[in-house]
Amino acid sequence: MENNNYPFKNTPLPYNYSALEPFIDEKTMYLHHDRHLQTYIDNLNGALEKHPELQKLSLEQLIKISGRLPKQLQTAVRNNAGGVYNHRFFFEGLTNPAKGEPYGRLAQAIKQCFTDYENFKTEFKKAALSVFGSGYAWLVYIRHQLKIVTTPNQNSPIEQGLCPILCIDVWEHAYYLKHYNLRADYIDDWFNIINWDNAEQNLIKCIKNKR
Ligand SMILES: [Fe+2]
Repeated sequence: MENNNYPFKNTPLPYNYSALEPFIDEKTMYLHHDRHLQTYIDNLNGALEKHPELQKLSLEQLIKISGRLPKQLQTAVRNNAGGVYNHRFFFEGLTNPAKGEPYGRLAQAIKQCFTDYENFKTEFKKAALSVFGSGYAWLVYIRHQLKIVTTPNQNSPIEQGLCPILCIDVWEHAYYLKHYNLRADYIDDWFNIINWDNAEQNLIKCIKNKR
């Protein structure tokens, strides 16, 4: 992840705003990246401005220590460092056209932990639908296992020591313009644009870091 330290900047998407059509529309991608993510970046820089002791920390380090910060700063760092990390992770995890299914080590691990890819999809969709209000569903790696977890708001699984492989943002801003209130349709569309190369690399990194 580039630009991992204060002052944070909104690095461009790795593809055009329209690249994920027809699964995610151009306007949603523009607003999501240039407005929503930009706001988290501005608020994170604002929260760190008067805290030089935190300015050398990476996004990951900020999220991991957020629980030990004074209450008000804790909320600002968790929401905004999480907002930047989670959005970058989500955007980097998408591509179009995509390989239809996982391969390599990830395909193997999915088979071990979820029987097969179809069952994984069913379980993952169920989890993404279960998020009440705003949040994310994640595939994470922990102690030689894959697990599906959800996080509320902009909480990030790395705060709990989980190593993320892929995620879906289920905040309404991620899909409302195209899919209206139909989160299930958005999730079905998202399965078509998962960047499996990126997910495979994430798993390899997680294994290497012995998480
Ligand atoms: Fe979002």
